[in-house]
Amino acid sequence: MPQPGLTIWLTGLSGAGKSTIANGLSSELRERGHPVEVLDGDVVRTNLSRGLGFSKEDRDTNIRRIGFVAELLTRNGVVVIVAAISPYRDVRDEVRERVGRFIEVFVDCPIAVLTERDSKGLYRKALAGELDNFTGVSDPYEEPAHADVVVDTSSETAAQSVTRVLATVAESGLLPPAPDDDGEAPQASR
Ligand code: ADX
Repeated sequence: MPQPGLTIWLTGLSGAGKSTIANGLSSELRERGHPVEVLDGDVVRTNLSRGLGFSKEDRDTNIRRIGFVAELLTRNGVVVIVAAISPYRDVRDEVRERVGRFIEVFVDCPIAVLTERDSKGLYRKALAGELDNFTGVSDPYEEPAHADVVVDTSSETAAQSVTRVLATVAESGLLPPAPDDDGEAPQASR
């Protein structure tokens, strides 16, 4: 049996910075020699969940699919990083239960800041009534009640958030030792 891995699950509103933090975590963990896979909602919705919409039922299906893949990879030694809004607490908790080795990260950011940033122009559309079921505007987002770590991207940089998540991962004791992880900072060149 391979060493079990770990799932780091980032939940939060669209545009809060989940993908950016996921990519930062991925780089850091790969650098240390861990096998890493990122499951990003935007990407999953172009293949595994293609055709699903944004009703509660479809979102729950999307999250269960992501959770299923995360479970398979985690039990085979991969560090899985999920970046998906995953707005409903009950399904997040269900997936957490199933995967077992799981760290929940709440990527928080005030809606006013997200509306201001609006990198994809979706908040403008949702506020104008042109986009139904948009999380945080015309659809619910249930904040985690017991996240392992909360990062606030309106008051900290992505690098700071990544560092704080990695500290939580280290404290959890769930991260398997990586072949290249000698506890030293990574070398610039080798
Ligand atoms: S989830 O709710 O099922 O977890 P997921 O993270 O996969 O959502 O996808 C969210 C992405 O879909 C957003 O980042 C945004 O780009 C896009 N999107 C399009 N319509 C919506 C909507 N109504 N609500 C939220 N996100 C939407």
